Amino acid sequence: MKLPRQENWAEIHDQKSSWRKKIVGEISDVFIVPRYVEFFYDHFDQDKEASFFEIGSGNGDMSKAMLAANQGQIGKYVVSEYFEEGVDWLKSIGLDAVQADAQQLPLEDEAFDVTVEFDVMHHVEDQRAMAREMMRTARGRCLLTESNGLSIFRKLKELTPGHRAAGEQSFTPGKWRSFFEGHEGYELTKFEIFPFLFPFKVPAKLMPLLVWWNRTIEKVPFFRWQCSSVAIYVEYKRV
Ligand SMILES: C[S@@+](CC[C@H](N)C(=O)[O-])C[C@H]1O[C@@H](n2cnc3c(N)ncnc32)[C@H](O)[C@@H]1O
Repeated sequence: MKLPRQENWAEIHDQKSSWRKKIVGEISDVFIVPRYVEFFYDHFDQDKEASFFEIGSGNGDMSKAMLAANQGQIGKYVVSEYFEEGVDWLKSIGLDAVQADAQQLPLEDEAFDVTVEFDVMHHVEDQRAMAREMMRTARGRCLLTESNGLSIFRKLKELTPGHRAAGEQSFTPGKWRSFFEGHEGYELTKFEIFPFLFPFKVPAKLMPLLVWWNRTIEKVPFFRWQCSSVAIYVEYKRV
């Protein structure tokens, strides 16, 4: 089993607030979580009772948000964590949770319609192994949110002790694509990637301005690639 780049679950999450909220503050609840939900349903809105497997669910904030917006698109939503303590927490809040290393999922081939992960792949040792596992265990579709290696701000932050301790790293769009390409038995048929999110901590009264900034920057040509994250949607077939 390849080890994660973090030591233990409680170092990353506490049960009240996610790692994301600790790093970026209130913008997490006000904009980031809803933006992820929007991205998810942009792709799965037409699904009916589809099955989803989420990798590295953390304290389950994102999973709960996806499920709260479900209007029949999701039939089954299984979450997972590398750390046992995380799995216990996810179960305690009512989620269907299993322990799983992203690089070696304890699942049959094509066990779910879709595999998803939110900000996990850049924390594992072997990104290609995780990408292959996501394709092996799904039936043609994967969805990810990840770190944007083109963002200068993000790259600079990765040099700070806090981000280093959290195992933060980022990759360019071409590199993200390469993790899914060239696996024997699979052929990519679609790889969509776009940059989004430009969060930082601001006083509460400036929050509407920060939300406007986040909504706007992802549409500004060229500069949008300075956003801290990327949203990725993959389709593939078995060959
Ligand atoms: C940045 S957090 C994201 C948590 C959650 N997806 C969210 O969006 O709030 C990264 C998560 O990946 C998990 N993780 C790290 N290495 C992993 C691995 N090899 N397999 C599965 N999960 C892993 C960590 O335990 C952590 O919960």
